[in-house]
Amino acid sequence: MEYMSAVIDIIEAKRDGFELSAGQIDNIIDGYSEGAIPDYQMSAFLMAVVCRGMSDEETIALTRAMLKTGETLDLAAVQGIKLDKHSTGGVGDKISIALVPIVAAAGIPIAKMSGRGLGTTGGTLDKLESITGFNVELSTAAIINQVKTVGACLCAQTSKIAPADKAIYALRDVTGTVESIPLIASSIMSKKLAGGADIIVLDVKVGKGAFMKHIEDARRLANLMRAIGEGFGKKVICELTDMDTPIGQSVGNLIEIKEAADLLRGRPVDRRLKDLVLTLSDTALKAAGANLRASELVESGAAWNKFSEIVTAQGGDISSIDLWDSVPPASVVTAQASGYIAKINADIIGRASVELGAGRQVKDSLVDKNAGIRIEAVVGTEVQYGSVLAKLYGSENKQIDKISEAVNRAFLIAENRRPARAAILETIPVDLP
Ligand code: URA
Repeated sequence: MEYMSAVIDIIEAKRDGFELSAGQIDNIIDGYSEGAIPDYQMSAFLMAVVCRGMSDEETIALTRAMLKTGETLDLAAVQGIKLDKHSTGGVGDKISIALVPIVAAAGIPIAKMSGRGLGTTGGTLDKLESITGFNVELSTAAIINQVKTVGACLCAQTSKIAPADKAIYALRDVTGTVESIPLIASSIMSKKLAGGADIIVLDVKVGKGAFMKHIEDARRLANLMRAIGEGFGKKVICELTDMDTPIGQSVGNLIEIKEAADLLRGRPVDRRLKDLVLTLSDTALKAAGANLRASELVESGAAWNKFSEIVTAQGGDISSIDLWDSVPPASVVTAQASGYIAKINADIIGRASVELGAGRQVKDSLVDKNAGIRIEAVVGTEVQYGSVLAKLYGSENKQIDKISEAVNRAFLIAENRRPARAAILETIPVDLP
């Protein structure tokens, strides 16, 4: 196909605010997938979409175009209602890592395909790979086999699942083209539709550390993804959740796995993290018709056993998670005033974590599994001048003083205690059938 002249016309049309036809959208996605359109033209197109937006029809066409660059996972061989879950991306977001074993422990099959870090938000795959030996690259046959035998897997989208999204996602991460409702909706839904589940639970994050900074945008994104899913016969439930403050006390890779593991094995963890995991898991269980509560599955040890089973099935060494306990901090951030922690800016913490090495600055950077941040004083905690606010981890980072200063600025200390914003803000649709 002759893409060269067409692609410039398409970029210019979007740059000038025109609506593209489904055929033009197919052209650019197919051309990029076949290698005929280079990264620089795709980047220009993506930036034009970020600046000009897309109509719902264009977004649906973009989702369909990315979906059909690959295959749909055929989960027919797996008994029962199949569930899937996805987050729009957050700072400290380890919810999938805890939710998948909880849901699977109730007998609901879940083939969870996740992504790598994007912008300042962490990636579930990068986190999972910090478990020694854990293999996220499963073939289609291995995914189906593991969901049949273990009940769940936590893996990368295969090369056959929306391959166009996989390539575009990596490009968006390093070209400032993440924050766009149509790009996020089509990216998530092309993968979720290809994932073959019947029910999709979406965690739409709102706030400073999320791509959606305002609740109105989050609602728009949620409703758009729901409309796309329903158009393909899927049941879609969206929880709008707070992302002004990092989720839990850990941000990074192994450090987040450790926190998710502690939650699953019933050890004390941050209350808001636990609320989020249990509420989203209950939403998923209810939607799939399971008559069990997430808290029971954690308390009985069933969720932790299922997590260990998943880790072992994917070649991981479950005991390596506790190696985290011996990682020394590279720097300690202390309070410069006395009072109560009123806010912790998730965006600053996310950026600092990437700079420490937990995320990527360019497409092919390697992530440091031990890099990250431990928040020692959560919102509402009383601190004195000199109290420890956070510990920073990461090897030989020459910018450590600059990063420590930034992390210090992320903490707002007030004279009086202020309540933290609710972790769950809204559910769409409001009434589950
Ligand atoms: N998660 C995705 O899968 N894609 C996006 O664009 C953003 C978050």
